Amino acid sequence: MQVKDGLRIVGLGHYVPDNTVTNDDLSKIVDTNDEWIATRTGIRKRHFVTTERNQDMAIAAAKMAIKDAGIDPLEIGACIVATIRPDNMTPAVACMVQKEVGLPTEIPCFDINAACSGFMYGVRVMRGMLMQSDKRYGLVIGSETLSKVLNMEDRGTCILFGDGAGAAVIELSDDHRYFSILGTKGDDEVLVCPNDGDRFVRMNGQEVFKFAVSTAPDTINQILDMAGLSADDIDHYVCHQANLRIISSVAKKCKQSIDKFYVNLDEYGNTSSASIPIALSEMKQKGLLKSGDKVVCAGFGGGLTWCGAYFEI
Ligand code: COA
Repeated sequence: MQVKDGLRIVGLGHYVPDNTVTNDDLSKIVDTNDEWIATRTGIRKRHFVTTERNQDMAIAAAKMAIKDAGIDPLEIGACIVATIRPDNMTPAVACMVQKEVGLPTEIPCFDINAACSGFMYGVRVMRGMLMQSDKRYGLVIGSETLSKVLNMEDRGTCILFGDGAGAAVIELSDDHRYFSILGTKGDDEVLVCPNDGDRFVRMNGQEVFKFAVSTAPDTINQILDMAGLSADDIDHYVCHQANLRIISSVAKKCKQSIDKFYVNLDEYGNTSSASIPIALSEMKQKGLLKSGDKVVCAGFGGGLTWCGAYFEI
């Protein structure tokens, strides 16, 4: 039984499909244009799967994270995949990760669904599980094939989303503080993706926008209170990559320079539960995450759900 209070991200990885779809590509399918999409969202392109399954992306991201951590897969004590669109109702994506990555068989591996907040939900659940595990590390993945649930005749939604996966290996730590906030306000009107009949994403964009620009700054302020820090103390903010106007509004409300907010939605669009771990993995690859850095993450999405977390690198 481990009783450490904090948590450390030991390894990060991500995978996005090679196939890119630009705003110009979409303008050939639906009545839109690059200027409208870029101005209203900041998105320039997104990556859509061709032959990849959700599990293929999750496995690739997991292998990269484990390599980055420099650990043996057999040291992992649990695997959680956050996704709204698993390949199968069963087996869970996490079960296929166990098989293909070579995780131990005597550990729990399962999927969770908290939409775009899923990865941060997964980290918090994993923390609790590691406290009862005799293994040191946990593997948390966000992986989404959202292109499969996009109505390519609905210009209000099909331009926003992309496919990809991000993964993190975490361990409990006494030297790295961790605080998190998870929230839920059940609503099946503002943002819905049914799993029978019309299985496409439906959304009231303006309502989601209003929800995001009020919830994310509130969550960040609550996290800062928990950590006993001011907004200026934070080195990096990593928001869910949904819309550049949302991230700019959050930066403004937190009185922080937009430069402290990592942005990659221009390249990937909104990859739901994968967006925060893809961003963290890219930041590490680019050498942006330095030992001792303080990171605040904030997300929001279907459910409605929201999430925030404070990490120390
Ligand atoms: N291309 C061109 N025009 C479009 C368009 C597109 N892709 N999508 C909508 N429009 C049109 C609308 O039909 C509307 O036309 P009208 O004025 O003639 O009726 C006009 O643009 C304005 O639409 P509106 O919905 O008011 O735009 P908006 O400024 O709210 O931007 C979103 C729409 C979806 C970009 C924005 O609301 C948003 O990003 N919301 C948050 C969504 C989100 O993050 N979802 C995921 C959460 S995890």
